[in-house]
Amino acid sequence: MNNKRTIFITGATGLVGSYLLKTLLLNGHKVYALARNADDKSAEKRILEILRSWDEKISTEKLRIIEGDITKDSLDLDEKTRELLKNEIEEIFHAAAITDLNQPMAKMRKVNVEGTRNVLDLAKEFSKIVKINHISTAYIYGDYNGLFKESDLDVGQKLYTNYEETKFRAEQLVEEYRKKGFWVDIYRPSIVVGDSKNGKTFQFKHIYQFISLCELEIFDTLPILDAYVSLEPVDLLAEAIYIISINTKDKNRNYHPFPKKLIRVEDIINIASQLLNFKKPKIVSLEDFKIERLTASQRAILKNSILSVNLKKTLDSNYTNAILSKLDFKFPDIDNGLIAKILKYFVSVSRQNRVRNEINF
Ligand SMILES: NC(=O)c1ccc[n+]([C@@H]2O[C@H](COP(=O)([O-])OP(=O)(O)OC[C@H]3O[C@@H](n4cnc5c(N)ncnc54)[C@H](OP(=O)(O)O)[C@@H]3O)[C@@H](O)[C@H]2O)c1
Repeated sequence: MNNKRTIFITGATGLVGSYLLKTLLLNGHKVYALARNADDKSAEKRILEILRSWDEKISTEKLRIIEGDITKDSLDLDEKTRELLKNEIEEIFHAAAITDLNQPMAKMRKVNVEGTRNVLDLAKEFSKIVKINHISTAYIYGDYNGLFKESDLDVGQKLYTNYEETKFRAEQLVEEYRKKGFWVDIYRPSIVVGDSKNGKTFQFKHIYQFISLCELEIFDTLPILDAYVSLEPVDLLAEAIYIISINTKDKNRNYHPFPKKLIRVEDIINIASQLLNFKKPKIVSLEDFKIERLTASQRAILKNSILSVNLKKTLDSNYTNAILSKLDFKFPDIDNGLIAKILKYFVSVSRQNRVRNEINF
């Protein structure tokens, strides 16, 4: 495959997809980016605005924006566009998904599973296609307590949320397509946060939602004594995915592209409580937590929030980190200084946008 590839990307208005798009353009690739129109903005306007929010001066000479929807057959592309893609596309990055943890199952399955099927089916038409990069999540290990390696998928785990369930099913689907002869690599990020240089992001889910919850001071006690997370700045994730994808010749691999060292959630709360000026909750173990004191709605809120900030210490990223090390890439330690930088950006965003989870493009 040529060093300057022609690439098709989905999810380019999302956090991970937009940073990947920026990385691909900066590295000189020609990119077809799929996006949907929003109520008041065209797909093109949305993508250009997001790209410029990452990099004001980015050249979009090699960017082609196409309107489409992954839940529709052939992504709703017309014949002319399909013909164009058929003769050009060499590689796909599939980053589109619903990333809320518990939207209705049917809706999530339609996008995360059937949408993935539609992307893979479209790839069958591409005469120059070499490989597909599927973006999944580290959280597909569910309640599994053993060492969960890159090569693992179904280890009999119970999955907690509709997000985990549908992302797991999408990986099973990928396995089916691999057996049909497709080259599909899977990347499983952990929790993606703002840019390591300045904390910038436009999506405030997962750890940010958890901090927002703490800021509301609804819970005076939280059962997170043993809770750990892996945070990874979006620029470092995009760089890691990019350099693996451009260099690897091993087919059908899964990657855990995130820092090896996990962060104690309590340490994040300590920094956040100072920056956002909220009273730090008392932190106890799950066994010492009196769940019966909570109302049903408090329990539901807490369950989702805790699930997204509790990464197992037994998630193994050795294979990926060894490959990255050979490629001269190492995730830096996410120390308190970097956590503070990420949270300071969060604080700088208006409370309204923080609670809405995103800045709309
Ligand atoms: N962010 C994280 O912490 C994290 C962690 C682990 C894994 N991941 C994985 O990384 C990938 C990207 O996540 P993200 O955080 O960038 O998500 P995001 O910011 O929520 O963006 C989701 C993207 O998917 C697009 N999309 C949704 N439904 C679509 C449809 N029917 N047709 C076309 N596009 C559609 C969205 O388009 P619209 O803008 O039009 O809605 C948006 O571009 C996902 O596969 C996710 O599972 C993310």
